[in-house]
Amino acid sequence: MAFFRQVREHYHTTGAIAPSSRFLARAQTGPLANLKAHTDRPVRVLEVGPGTGAVTRQIVELLEPGDTFDLVEINTAFAELLERRFTDDPAFSSLSASARVHAVPLQEFSSDAPYDVIVSGLPMNNFSSELVEELFEAYFRLLGPEGTLSYFEYMYMRPMRKLVSGRKDRERVNRIAEIMRRHCRQRRTRTSWVLANLPPAWIQHLSGHADSAAR
Ligand SMILES: C[S@@+](CC[C@H](N)C(=O)[O-])C[C@H]1O[C@@H](n2cnc3c(N)ncnc32)[C@H](O)[C@@H]1O
Repeated sequence: MAFFRQVREHYHTTGAIAPSSRFLARAQTGPLANLKAHTDRPVRVLEVGPGTGAVTRQIVELLEPGDTFDLVEINTAFAELLERRFTDDPAFSSLSASARVHAVPLQEFSSDAPYDVIVSGLPMNNFSSELVEELFEAYFRLLGPEGTLSYFEYMYMRPMRKLVSGRKDRERVNRIAEIMRRHCRQRRTRTSWVLANLPPAWIQHLSGHADSAAR
């Protein structure tokens, strides 16, 4: 219910019609599951735009006390709800000592050490191209060179949006598509397809290290 109320009041920043499915959450956290299976050291994870915690729940299942888990959420109602979940919800409370919810926009967030994994649910297609550029800069400022960023986008959303929008909005969507294509050319390691989600989605997995030969 909290999610749907916030969608009504803050559609621009929420940008979804329903929380992510567990299939999407599992696919988005694939790189984290892989890292945890292959290392004994504590890991550092950042979740951007956790909303009501559909993907957070999956991240919490993978992490242990001693790992670092930062969550950056622009919407204070979601941030407060998540903070309560870490104290009150048994599915989240194992990490109450290591998880920190930051009620700030990602573009204003900084950290004193790089992250191994960033999982992002930001609705980029709702934003200006300048903000999208700024958000990608923030991802790669915060991600370590060996790290992985996993973000989702609803399938075919940009072509559909272009069909129903005016010239200015089409230009905006084209500029966003170009920014994403550039980062994908330089950094994409793979794409996951998730049909069992409303709407179906692709997850792009990008490396912290850019191939500067790919323009
Ligand atoms: C599409 S919802 C995703 C929610 C959740 N991750 C899920 O999959 O169900 C996008 C979330 O990003 C948050 N958000 C939007 N812009 C943001 C920004 N600049 N910095 C941090 N969070 C932001 C919204 O408040 C919202 O919770």
